[in-house]
Amino acid sequence: MSNQIVTSTPRSSRLLHPTPVRMMHWINALAIFIMIGSGWKIYNDDVLLGWLHFPDAVVIGKWAQHGLQWHFFGMWIFVLNGLAYLTYGIVTGRFRRKLFPVSLREILATANDALHFRLAHDDLTHYNAVQKILYLGVMAVGVLIVISGLALWKPVQFSELAALFGSFQTIRVVHFLCMTAIVSFLLVHISLALLVPRSLVAMITGGPALDNGAAPAVEPTR
Ligand code: HEM
Repeated sequence: MSNQIVTSTPRSSRLLHPTPVRMMHWINALAIFIMIGSGWKIYNDDVLLGWLHFPDAVVIGKWAQHGLQWHFFGMWIFVLNGLAYLTYGIVTGRFRRKLFPVSLREILATANDALHFRLAHDDLTHYNAVQKILYLGVMAVGVLIVISGLALWKPVQFSELAALFGSFQTIRVVHFLCMTAIVSFLLVHISLALLVPRSLVAMITGGPALDNGAAPAVEPTR
């Protein structure tokens, strides 16, 4: 009888949210916080809606120019980190795996479940159609807010870009609407994170280890 030694190759696994994703997510949250607070300070100096002024308690910057300095500081973090996140998501296949495909039928069914408070969120490894649309949507708005911001900042240097929007006032309105969309996203996003604390813990610790069978080799394991 031969003594056969059976060696088992350890299956590699990776975390639900690998370290680069978590780092970029929280850097982005900090940058957005700076950009919104300082943007509100700049807005108060020349309001678009006569009835809307942001209270001093929620703005960043002692005066408008100070707010502008904070805004540019946050902008560099947001843009560089955002480019890194988009590149990472595309190159590693994370976006393809986690955010696609998304069908209209699935969106309607999930939205219906959400409206009837039946939305299942027990499987953290899978984004439902509403999450997919929210994440893709906020990324698109993130790109548009940077483009409109560039046109506001340097309307002469980026005159062709500015011309696409029409008037300077239109660019301001687009920039403001993008901010409103991001704030609305955050209200839903943070509420969901608090309603499902496991998802928040996973975005901090990395979450459960996943079988690498389903993952492309390029995404880091930790
Ligand atoms: C304090 C603020 C924030 C909290 C508490 C928070 C919380 C979370 C949590 C818990 C997840 C994992 C969701 C899940 O597994 O179901 C997540 C993912 C995500 N969050 Fe946030 N978030 C915050 C700010 C932001 C901001 C400012 C943005 C963008 C404007 C953002 C965009 C995203 C995106 C795109 C994902 C998916 C990431 C991926 O899987 O690649 N979050 N967030």
